[in-house]
Order: sequence, then C-alpha cells, then structure tokens
Amino acid sequence: MIKAGIVGISGYSGMTTLDLLLKHPEVRVTYVSANNTTGKVTDIWPQFKGKIRLMCQKFDLKKAVELCDVIFLAVPHTISMELAPALLKAGKKVIDLSGDYRLSNARDYKKWYGSAHKDCHNLKKSVYGLPELYREDIKKAKLIANPGCYPTAAILALAPLTAIYSELIQSVIIDAKSGVSGAGRKASVMFNYCEVNENFKAYKVFNHQHVPEMELILSKISRMPVAINFVPHLLPVNRGILETIYVQLNDKISLVDIHKIYERFYKTEPFARILAAGQQPELKNVTHTNYCDIGIDIHAGKKLLVITSVIDNLVKGAAGQAVQNMNIMEGFKEEEGLL
Ligand SMILES: NC(=O)c1ccc[n+]([C@@H]2O[C@H](COP(=O)([O-])OP(=O)(O)OC[C@H]3O[C@@H](n4cnc5c(N)ncnc54)[C@H](OP(=O)(O)O)[C@@H]3O)[C@@H](O)[C@H]2O)c1
Repeated sequence: MIKAGIVGISGYSGMTTLDLLLKHPEVRVTYVSANNTTGKVTDIWPQFKGKIRLMCQKFDLKKAVELCDVIFLAVPHTISMELAPALLKAGKKVIDLSGDYRLSNARDYKKWYGSAHKDCHNLKKSVYGLPELYREDIKKAKLIANPGCYPTAAILALAPLTAIYSELIQSVIIDAKSGVSGAGRKASVMFNYCEVNENFKAYKVFNHQHVPEMELILSKISRMPVAINFVPHLLPVNRGILETIYVQLNDKISLVDIHKIYERFYKTEPFARILAAGQQPELKNVTHTNYCDIGIDIHAGKKLLVITSVIDNLVKGAAGQAVQNMNIMEGFKEEEGLL
C-alpha cells in the first residue's frame, strides 16, 4: 500500500484523480491541497461523502513530504515547477498533470506558455508519461510529465504511422474538439453555460500550447521532423475529445495494410483500441474510461488517410493516464483501478 497526495483537489483533474485512487486497492490518499479552497473534501466534492475524511489546505511542503510517497500535481502550468523541485529533492515521486515538464527545452516553454521555465534541471530529467510509447522509461522515472489531453489523442492516433511509414506523410491536419471540462473548473466568460450551450467554435487556431508537444513526440518517433496543423474547437459537452486527423500521403497504401499496422502496434495495449476498418469511434464509448478508441479510413484515389481518435480528457487525457503511470512506476498491475 502506498500513500498518495493530490495538489489541486478542487479542480476537475484533481477530483478525477481522487475518484480513481479511492477505488485503487494499492493506494491510500493521505494528503490533499488547493490554492484558495479549504475545508472538508466532502464539502468541495459531495459525491465523496462517506468515502474520505481528509481536509483540504493550502499547499504545505513539510506535510506533503511527511504524508506521501507519490504526489499528483493537478495545478495550472507555472505552479507545478514551483512545487516539484522540493518534492523531488525530498525523494518523492511526482506526476505532473500540467504542461510544465512536457517540452524538451526552456526556450520552447517560454514561446508557447509565455513564462520563463524555473526548473530546467528537472525539465531535462522528466519522462513523458505516455505508457504506450515510453513504458520502460516510466518504470524508472521520478518525475512524470503527464501528457496533455489533445496530444494524447493525437499522438496515439499518429504513432503507428509515424513510427513505421513516416516517409509516406505529406501533411497532417488535426481538427480537434474538446468538451468544456478541458478548460478546468475556474470560471471565465468564454466557458459560461450561455456561451457554450448550443454553440460551437474554433479557438487558438495554429497557436495552441499543445502543438509543440505533439510535434516533439511525433518527430522523436519518426526520427525526422513532423509538422502538424492543429485547430481546436470547443464542443458543448462536459467531457470528451474527438480528433479527426487528415493525413495527406504521397503514395498509395491499402486500408487493409494500414489497419494491420495499427492493430499490431497496439496488440498488447490495455487502453488503446483499434476499431474495425471503416468503423468510427464515438465519445460515449470512452467517457469515464481510460480508453483511446481509434478509427481508420482511407480514400485510395486521393491518397488521403483519415484517423479519428476519442478519449475522455479527464481520464486518459489527465487523471486516468496519471494513475496508469503511477501503476507502472510502482510495479502495480497497469490496469489497476482503471477498468
Ligand atoms: N481539464 C482537463 O481536461 C485537463 C487535461 C489534461 C491536463 N490538464 C492539466 O491539469 C492541470 C489542472 O487542470 P484542471 O482542469 O483540473 O484545472 P482546474 O479545474 O482549474 O483546477 C486547478 C486546481 O489547481 C489549484 N491551484 C491553482 N493555483 C494553485 C497554487 N498556486 N497552488 C496550489 N494549487 C493551485 C486550484 O485550487 P483553487 O480552486 O483553490 O484555486 C485547483 O484545485 C492543468 O495544468 C491542466 O492544464 C487538464
């Protein structure tokens, strides 16, 4: 049994992490904190009444170190890099759900997140927590950069192609749609009910902070630069991401062949599911689960491959993947608490 702490318990990702850990047989949640939110966890999240008695307080390093073996940072970017160094120095394992440790250098971080990186030392040491690609590194990691929600759906959808057939790729367009919980619980006009309900719109066209993360990982897999064109949209649902990915190929490949490649790539993966050729994934099949469902279709004449990928942004896109990473780091069964 290990002791886990969650920083950012009053947010959606923190709440989802707690929900999963309370059902996990190998974990006891011993510490929770937030920023301005204090009091009983069951007052913040009444759905946990009878399941947890912890109080939420402002972050206290001494207590976090005393009470936890592993700490989930479910806080906004720039906050994680203030908290992680001392936790790591005290020998704790850290799983960061923010974007602070996902990029490979401070220059890109400044460009895309708009702040100087304050912990370049650990930025170099962090392991990108996408188990389907980096399981062996995750086993040995002390600091996990849990992937972003959009990148999880996109990288899983493109990894088999970029790993095996990168020379076939001419261009990639990712048309992504996310439910409103992707923006977190904090209030802002753009995410008000009346702004979102019965509405649909694009935002951050070409300049979403997840672009460099996707390009970095896909380029590593393909061992050559991969550029993507990414347009996110705000979907009027609570949770879920659907990405329609258009890959213009420069040569012909049959649907049967590409489908075989995808099935083989994820054959032993517990959470990446390849649908039958031509079948389309749906949000309702993955919400509240840790699955990523992927559909593949091809227009042979146009040499156009269309990959569709769905996840729950709060589970495979955040808390579920974080728990999957913890399971791997601790040597637990990878699916523990997630099925
Ligand atoms: N939402 C998603 O689908 C999703 C998916 C993948 C990754 N993420 C990432 O996960 C992180 C959390 O996202 P979220 O959507 O759960 O956000 P959220 O709902 O807005 O919650 C943020 C949490 O962080 C706490 N916090 C803010 N400033 C803090 C500080 N200075 N010290 C300690 N705690 C602080 C907040 O506490 P108070 O309530 O007291 O202010 C709250 O508990 C973000 O980095 C986000 O990018 C989110």
